[in-house]
Amino acid sequence: MKHFRDKWSSKIGFILAASGSAIGIGNIVFFSSNAYKFGGGAFYLPYLVALFVLGLPIMMLELGIGSMTSKSFPMAMRELSGKKGEFVGWWAMAGTLFILMYYITILAWALGMLLGSFGSLFDTPTYSVFDNLALTANNKSRIFFFNQLTTWKPAVFVLVIWLLNWMMLKKGTASIEKAVQLLVPIIWIFMLLLVIRGVSLDGGIDGVMYLFTPNWQEIFNPSVWSAAFSQMFFSLSLGFGILTSYASYLPKNANHVNNAFLISFLNCSFEFIAGIAIFSLLFVFAIHPIGATISLSFFVVPQGIDNISDIGWLVQVGGVFFFLLLVIAGLSSSISMIEAIVSALRDKLQIQRKKALLMVTIPGIFGSLLFTLPYIIDPEITGNGTLGLTMLDLLDHWVFKYGLLLIGLSEVVLLGWVLGADMVRKFLNKHSKINLGHWFNYLLKYVIPILLVVVLVFSFLQDFPLYGSRYDMPSFDWLPLFIPFFWLLSSYLFAYLLTFKVSSP
Ligand code: TRP
Repeated sequence: MKHFRDKWSSKIGFILAASGSAIGIGNIVFFSSNAYKFGGGAFYLPYLVALFVLGLPIMMLELGIGSMTSKSFPMAMRELSGKKGEFVGWWAMAGTLFILMYYITILAWALGMLLGSFGSLFDTPTYSVFDNLALTANNKSRIFFFNQLTTWKPAVFVLVIWLLNWMMLKKGTASIEKAVQLLVPIIWIFMLLLVIRGVSLDGGIDGVMYLFTPNWQEIFNPSVWSAAFSQMFFSLSLGFGILTSYASYLPKNANHVNNAFLISFLNCSFEFIAGIAIFSLLFVFAIHPIGATISLSFFVVPQGIDNISDIGWLVQVGGVFFFLLLVIAGLSSSISMIEAIVSALRDKLQIQRKKALLMVTIPGIFGSLLFTLPYIIDPEITGNGTLGLTMLDLLDHWVFKYGLLLIGLSEVVLLGWVLGADMVRKFLNKHSKINLGHWFNYLLKYVIPILLVVVLVFSFLQDFPLYGSRYDMPSFDWLPLFIPFFWLLSSYLFAYLLTFKVSSP
C-alpha cells in the first residue's frame, strides 16, 4: 500500500520550516563559543569559505535530491546511487538520532533554566536563576544549573520536550507548518530584542568589537578550519539529509538554487546577530567564556543578562527571554531531525506516521534520559561543580568534529561520482533562473571532498597523540577512544540492518 505523502501548503511554510530547522542552539550557542575560541573575527574567513564552498552547494544537493525523487534521504540515495547510497542514508539517520538525543537533553536543561528564571516555583528555599548573581565562579546560575542536574527534574523536562515535539509532528507538514509559523517569527523578535539591549549596555560594544577584530594568527591553525566547517554543517542542518525530507514535500519544480540561498541567508544572518548579542552581553562583564559550550549558555550568558538592568524583575524578564529563545529555536530544529527519520522510516517500511513516530520516540526518549544522568554529564558531579570532562563533551567532540564531516564526505562522493554531479546540476538548473556552471561539478567532485579529507586528517593528527591532555579529556584513555568506535560500530550496524535486512517496497 502506498502511503499518502505530505505536501507543504505554501512555499512560505517550507521556508519557515527549513530555516527553523537551521536556526537552533547551533546558532545561538555553538557559533559564539567557536568564534570566541578561534580568534574572534578570524573565524569569519574560514566561516565564509565554508558557506560558499561547502554550505551552499551541499544544501542545493540535499534539497535537489529531495525534489528529484520525492523521497526522504535514505530512499532518495538508493534511487540515485544504489544500495551503497541507501547505506550512507541510514548511517546519516543514525547520526541524526544520536544528535537528536542530546539535543533534546540540552533543550530540557534550557527549559529547566527557563522555569528557574521565573523564580523557582519548585524549590525551597525559593530562588531564581538570577537571584544574588555574584560575579564568581560559583554564581547562582551555575549552582542552580548543577543543583538541577542532580535532581529528577531534567528527566521530566526531557519528557515534556519530547511531548512538544510529538504534538508538532503528529499531523506531518500540516502541524509542522502551524508550529513554525508561530515559532520562527518569535525567535527573530526575541533575538533582535536581545541584540538591542546588549549593544546598548555600557561596554557592550567592546564585545562586538572583539567579535569583529581578527586574530590573524589563528587563520593558520587547522582546528579553526575544521571548526568552521563543522559549524557550517551543523548550523545549516547539512550532511544528514534533513533538508532532503523537507524538500521531498515540495513539488518537483521547486527552485532550489534560490531556496538554498534564502535558507542560508536567513540562517547565517541570524547567527551573525546572535553573535553580536552574546558577545555584547559577555563583555559587559568582561567574562571570558571557557571552551565548554554548555557553560556558555547555562551560566555565562545569565551573568551577562544579570547586567541588563538594576531592577530585579527586568533581569528575570531577560532571562526568560533568553531561555525561551533557546527552547523555541531548539524545538523548530528538533522537529526537523525527528521528521527526517520518521519520513525515512515511512518510505522504507510503508507505515503510518504514528507508528514511525513511535519508532523514533521510544529509543529517542531513552537516549535523552541517559544524557540526563548525572554520571554521564560529569562523573565528578558531586565535586566542585565544574563541567570538566563530560560524556556530553566527548560526544560533542566526536560527532561535531568527525561525524558531521564524514557523513557529508560520503554523501558528496557518492552523489558526485556515482550518480554524477552533472545530473544534479542539470536538474537544479532546470528550475532555476541562475544557472550553475560546470564549476559546480568540480566543486562536488574534487574541491569539497579534498577539503573535507584534509580537514579530517588534520583533526585526527591533532587529536590522536594528545589524548589525556586536551579538552580536559580524561586521564583514562579508553573512554575517548571507546566512543568513536562505539558510534561507528553501532551506526554501521543500524545502517547495515536497514539497508540489507529489511526489504524495500
Ligand atoms: N541546525 C540546527 C542548529 O543550528 C541543528 C540541527 C537541526 C542539525 N538539524 C540538524 C544539526 C541536522 C545537524 C544535523 O541548532
